[in-house]
Amino acid sequence: MTSHVRAPNLHATVLDGKELRDTFREDVLHGLSLPHKSIPPKHLYDARGSKLFDAITGLNEYYPTRTERNILDSHAESIAGALGPGATLIEPGAGSCEKAQALLATLEQPRSYVPIEISLTALEAGSHRIAERFPHVEVHPICTDFTTELPLTSGGDNRVVFFPGSTVSNFNRKEREGLLKRLSDLAQPGGQLLIGFDLAKDRSVLLDAYNDSAGVTAAFNLNLLRRINAELGGDFDLSMFRHDAVWNDEHSRIEMHLVSEAPQGVRVEDQMFEFAHHERLHTENSHKFTTASFDIEAGLAGFSRRQLWTDPQDWFAVALYRAD
Ligand code: AVJ
Repeated sequence: MTSHVRAPNLHATVLDGKELRDTFREDVLHGLSLPHKSIPPKHLYDARGSKLFDAITGLNEYYPTRTERNILDSHAESIAGALGPGATLIEPGAGSCEKAQALLATLEQPRSYVPIEISLTALEAGSHRIAERFPHVEVHPICTDFTTELPLTSGGDNRVVFFPGSTVSNFNRKEREGLLKRLSDLAQPGGQLLIGFDLAKDRSVLLDAYNDSAGVTAAFNLNLLRRINAELGGDFDLSMFRHDAVWNDEHSRIEMHLVSEAPQGVRVEDQMFEFAHHERLHTENSHKFTTASFDIEAGLAGFSRRQLWTDPQDWFAVALYRAD
């Protein structure tokens, strides 16, 4: 851990940094060789990308984060009541553990907290803060990529998997099928899933949220190329690519792309990749759901819905499911 004094209730971080680096390299080299170039969105979140994402969450146009926070705040009591006492809270993709901090403060005698996060910096800082603020909660941070491996932690008789932030929206239907099954394995029979997901809405609201006027989302998207340059010896010229976010109606999702402004060749390590003028590199999907469609998908993974909380505009949903 980075801090010199470790809280007694904070257990050593379980990590595998080497594997994380290798995934980035392989995903980039593979993704740039595809006929439709694409790189998985998880690679947007290096230290700088995570900072830019934090900045996105504070933008006026970007409604999801504050809407979910408002839901969690205004229904804190009924959520805590539904989750019950002595919870073991497990959070895949915990980031800097901010949302769990608010939830833990409202729960009745939470027992332990297991944040699972790909970014070691965010995980270390976040889990340390939680351990200090909640001395009676055992904190077991795990540094890994929950999309490739979800450690099946055991123990705790009130297991709650916490999956907020509409992280689930990054995955396509097929991927969600596997992910939701793994989340239900993680919850174990009788355990619960508290999940936040973004709802389908007016297209202009969606497009504005991903094409903000300050250009923060553009910087977030382009940061992927900067990361490739820095970590894989790439020679992307960032001024020759443009951020674009579009609505895909067939798949009910916002897609982020980087568009090549000219025909150009780019080198990564010892490989050359050609971009045609206007060729797109697909960097992220952000699916938008209805509560009915989400219930069906969750049901296929063995979850039945117990409760649902939304905002007055029905822009975002926080749902509680029980695993059978
Ligand atoms: C973190 C996946 C929920 O899809 O809204 C925000 C990521 N990308 N702006 C989202 C994101 C561009 C975000 N999620």
